[in-house]
Amino acid sequence: MKIRSVGVLGAGLMGAGIAEVVARSGHETRVREVSPDLAAKGLARIEASFAKGVERQKMTAEERAAARARLTTTTQLADLAECDIVIEAIVENLDLKKQTFGELDRLCKKETIFCSNTSSLTITELAAATARPDRFAGLHFFNPVPVMKLVEVVETIATSPETRETVVEFAKALGKEPIRTRDNSGFIVNRLLVPYLLDAVRALEEGVGTKEDIDRGMELGCGYPMGPLKLLDFVGLDTTYAIAEIMFDEYREKRFAPPPLLKRMVLAGRYGRKSGRGFYEYGGKA
Ligand code: 3HC
Repeated sequence: MKIRSVGVLGAGLMGAGIAEVVARSGHETRVREVSPDLAAKGLARIEASFAKGVERQKMTAEERAAARARLTTTTQLADLAECDIVIEAIVENLDLKKQTFGELDRLCKKETIFCSNTSSLTITELAAATARPDRFAGLHFFNPVPVMKLVEVVETIATSPETRETVVEFAKALGKEPIRTRDNSGFIVNRLLVPYLLDAVRALEEGVGTKEDIDRGMELGCGYPMGPLKLLDFVGLDTTYAIAEIMFDEYREKRFAPPPLLKRMVLAGRYGRKSGRGFYEYGGKA
């Protein structure tokens, strides 16, 4: 099946990035947010990234105009009914995701493939909220979506081989490098990344080094583009905390348990860049 029209649910950090990449790669893109205000914010985020793309000579002004023309927003799920594929990138809330997919299942044409960008929830459980588990897969992008090359294509025991292949080809058509993974909480990347990030917080809690030295250690010692505490600020402490809780619940292993300091920083509203303060200060800029 050739994917032409794409629906994206959610225009937050990940949803906006996904919509941007989808529109840039030549697909008709319809983004659904719950309110006109959030839809406008998402669109502004995409437009700012388009401008950066032009400035960095990753796209021409004509390409930007064409990509922008392919993008529309809506607050109605019914407006995604004719899409060939729908990618969900709403908040990491299982019940809300299940309810949204259930509704979408009743509205969309029968061929529509459903994908979730969840980083840790079980794809099988989301698929079970629909009558199309064979046309359901995970499609997990990385932040910042326009820059990071990887996507994880997640198949469940119910995903059909045709769906998996269509999603893999679609990921390539977006200019991404797909890797295939089974439906285990955290898939490949977060299974390895999350314990590492949590361990960095534990190292800070235990006074192993300052935050700057912990970050510099991994940047200069291992060639990582960002140290773990900077990366936590970048991804969002609240997001990482939610992912860790879900992974701990699945595996019941200490390495996935969020450390007390992470919990307290989330309770204090120090989410990282998005709230203006995490392990580092961002000048109060949200
Ligand atoms: N459109 C297109 N290209 C863009 C762009 C845009 N809007 N903005 C930047 N770029 C390009 C730049 O031109 C540059 O390309 P080049 O290498 O060919 O010159 C490249 O992207 C890097 O951009 P910058 O120079 O602005 O940025 P830095 O070199 O400072 O790198 C970074 C920034 C890419 C964020 C880097 O620090 C990095 O890789 N950090 C780690 C990010 C990471 O690990 N992400 C994964 C998080 S985990 C996750 O998302 C999973 C979830 O489930 C938690």
